[in-house]
Amino acid sequence: MAMAMLEVKNLGIVFGGLHAVEDFNMTIEPGQLYGLIGPNGAGKTTLFNLLTGVYKPTTGTFYLDGENITGKTPVEINKKGIARTFQNIRLFKNMSVIDNVKVGLHNKKKTTVIESVLRLPRHFKEEKQMEREALALLKVFDLDGQKDFLASNLPYGKQRKLEIARALATSPKLLLLDEPAAGMNPNETEELMATIRFILKEFGLTILLIEHDMKLVSGICEEISVLNFGMLLAKGKTAEVLQNPDVIAAYLGE
Ligand SMILES: Nc1ncnc2c1ncn2[C@@H]1O[C@H](COP(=O)(O)OP(=O)(O)O)[C@@H](O)[C@H]1O
Ligand SMILES: [Mg+2]
Repeated sequence: MAMAMLEVKNLGIVFGGLHAVEDFNMTIEPGQLYGLIGPNGAGKTTLFNLLTGVYKPTTGTFYLDGENITGKTPVEINKKGIARTFQNIRLFKNMSVIDNVKVGLHNKKKTTVIESVLRLPRHFKEEKQMEREALALLKVFDLDGQKDFLASNLPYGKQRKLEIARALATSPKLLLLDEPAAGMNPNETEELMATIRFILKEFGLTILLIEHDMKLVSGICEEISVLNFGMLLAKGKTAEVLQNPDVIAAYLGE
């Protein structure tokens, strides 16, 4: 059998006495657009913080493409191929739109610091290449027309898209999206979902999507897991999971 893109085994973290994530297991196959839902405070964002090295787990391990990457730093994990967006947008607000994407591209660049400082030919070539790559990425998100705008001057929906473009600039295998449609209007949301489907196919990605909205997730993910009080409540085909009485009760209890 082919290797899973992400394998999570018995993952857990305790804050004080609170089990924010407990004995959590999850398998995501290459090319999947997998959903993770659950009421507010269920532990969804904490799971992303564990998978990106922001928090060190109290228990458990996780594997990216077969490699155990538990305990690595956020930078190391990004280099291994996991990129994310945040529930609350984190852009470099005082930088231009295109420079925000270049920050992601910088992770991959080969020029040494000395070559950059001395502005040697390889550095120039890479600068040009980065400009091209950044523009191409912006185009996917229909942001190329605003490449020189300050990130903070973009409308909210476009800032969300820019954050995804920046994450993609690091060439991840696995993209983690934390409520990417939060705060968007219905039109922006629909457009975003189409873009997510497009990048999944076009860039051969695997995506784990956190979503609070059950309707939204059923429109885009074939399979989902449900977190509740840090624990797995249900998983499987989205349509079936959303009819599970325990899942409905968990959302009603919010
Ligand atoms: N750094 C932290 N210190 C203490 N408690 C935290 C920390 N991060 C998250 N929590 C707690 O963990 C629980 C899960 O939070 P979170 O993962 O943000 O939930 P969700 O994203 O599902 O809404 C909440 O009770 C939250 O208060
Ligand atoms: Mg959250």
